[in-house]
Amino acid sequence: MAKFIDELKRTHTCGQLRAEHIGEEVVLFGWVQSRRDHGGCIFIDLRDRNGLTQLVFDPATSFPDADRCRSEWVIGVRGTVRDRGAKDDGTSLHNPRLATGAIEVVASEIQIFNKAQTPPFLIEDNVDTNEDKRLEYRYLDLRRPKLQRNLMLRSRLNHVTRAYFHEHDFVEVETPFLVKYTPGGARNFLVPSRLYPGSFYALAESPQVYKQMLMIGGYDRYYQIVRCFRDEDLRIDRQPEFTQIDVEMSFINQDDLFTMLEGLVFKLWKEGLGVDLRERYPDGTFPRLPFEESMRRFGNDKPDMRFGLEHVELTKLVVEHGGGGVSLLEPLAQKFASGEYRMELPKEIVKAIRVPAEHPLSRKDTDDLEKLCKQMGAGGLARAKVNEGGEWTQSPFAKTITKEMRDAINAACGAQDGDLLLFQFGPEAKVQTVMANLRLHLGKKLGLIPEVGTKDDWNFLWVVEPPLFEQNDDGSWAAAHHVFTRPHDADVEKLGTDPGLVKCYRYDLVLNGFEIAGGSIRLHDPDVQKQVFQVIGLSEADAREKFGFFLDALTYGAPPHGGIAFGMDRVAMLACQTESIRDVIAFPKTQKANDLLTQAPTKVDAKQLGELHVRVVEPAK
Ligand code: AMO
Repeated sequence: MAKFIDELKRTHTCGQLRAEHIGEEVVLFGWVQSRRDHGGCIFIDLRDRNGLTQLVFDPATSFPDADRCRSEWVIGVRGTVRDRGAKDDGTSLHNPRLATGAIEVVASEIQIFNKAQTPPFLIEDNVDTNEDKRLEYRYLDLRRPKLQRNLMLRSRLNHVTRAYFHEHDFVEVETPFLVKYTPGGARNFLVPSRLYPGSFYALAESPQVYKQMLMIGGYDRYYQIVRCFRDEDLRIDRQPEFTQIDVEMSFINQDDLFTMLEGLVFKLWKEGLGVDLRERYPDGTFPRLPFEESMRRFGNDKPDMRFGLEHVELTKLVVEHGGGGVSLLEPLAQKFASGEYRMELPKEIVKAIRVPAEHPLSRKDTDDLEKLCKQMGAGGLARAKVNEGGEWTQSPFAKTITKEMRDAINAACGAQDGDLLLFQFGPEAKVQTVMANLRLHLGKKLGLIPEVGTKDDWNFLWVVEPPLFEQNDDGSWAAAHHVFTRPHDADVEKLGTDPGLVKCYRYDLVLNGFEIAGGSIRLHDPDVQKQVFQVIGLSEADAREKFGFFLDALTYGAPPHGGIAFGMDRVAMLACQTESIRDVIAFPKTQKANDLLTQAPTKVDAKQLGELHVRVVEPAK
């Protein structure tokens, strides 16, 4: 008997054999998906990451090893490919649902490489075992076809990315993970230094300053597929360690960068997914939406544009009508009238969403929506049902609102008989968040967004021109992203006079409502930089303390430069049409940042802590 592996090498994968292979002798390796005994004739479905092949063990030859095989045992088989044939009544035995469904392999030899314990869940898609169990036995979960497809697609996306940047003369450079802690941005993981008692490294939240220093170092086209670490609260699209496709370029403007990145995305979709985005975007570019418009129409800067239910901004209208007889809106109108609030940077706003009559909502539905809004911190959810004459019912505003304002709101919303208007008013940020989430919730509830995985619908969008600063509650200014973002040239003069109106070259790429990439053109002009620091109240001494090394670097001939980083996990999640980022990461953490497979994080002993000069303070009970 020939020896498997040493002498009998694998000839094909379990997903490869087709009718054209009939008659060939093949050697396959894999895991037993299932074993069936049909009157002494044993059938085994053999699985590897490429698919399933049916093996047949003829009763005429005795195969005790085939008989012993159980699920997840690892075997090698030599045999001959044959047609699956037909039943006596002529119906075909081909399995059209399987890529290898036309053939089977009649075994002549089998070797069991290893047995397996009975796995705690079935290795197949659509398992209903809870995710914690699957994460605990991730190596088994990883055998499921869905995860294998996802990880293989992700690997292909990595490959396409590298090829693309190589074609465009980029240099792949690795940057440190153990870096200097700098305050601001995402919360860092800290690593105690053994050699410098009491000192800590931070794990890099991104290679940001390094890639900029690479530009100063002359590597004018840089990329890296790089792990980043952030100790943030987790969400469905966030992990504490995640991967970026990180890019930086010199001597380019925003348009140049977009062109380069659009090229990458088109290639990823074409070569990774077999989707030609040119059918949807014939000129090879994605639409651009100014940040201000995005906030006005959708309440956030990552709008899902696959459906309508757009917001209607009513602040100006309400102010013009002096609150229109609605006592809840009058104080707000008053603050604008008195000059306390300005329309360009309103501190409070009024917005509505029109739910068309074709999507009727019951009383219970709207009560549930109100609950949802309250959970997000809203005071409630004012509504109005519009009737034929444009009058409102079921509304807290109906009794007192002036006809003029009601008509104006109806007109602004395009309200028709039977439509429902949903309102939010109050502090700007809260109204935007609540309304953005409400729109998404309604989009799902009303079936306006296709369920994940049911439709190839790729809606890309650049969100551009956001403000450089945001205002803190105490009226002071903070950098909305990071302090090295370049303001629009035309707005530089407003730095000293009206910083809230300064727009900048910062951009995000959004796909189906997820931010998949973000970046900016950087500020390399020291004079403008000084003004930016002044706006945010950062003294020269503070700036030096925070990032002196970087400020120095910028004074030694920094080229004009800019960059972007893609969230690779999010790109893969959307490309794989799956709902959780964990489905595209081999060994992810849970929402509570645990690794259920290895049980990390764990306590370490006192000696180890001693070497690191660290003492644990137990949290107060
Ligand atoms: P930013 O912080 O916007 O930019 O990150 C870039 C992209 O990374 C993804 N991302 C995440 N993915 C999974 N889990 C997380 N916790 C997580 N956090 C971010 C998002 C995001 O768009 N240095 C800058 C880039 C630049 O300016 O060039 C940066 O890191 O998809």
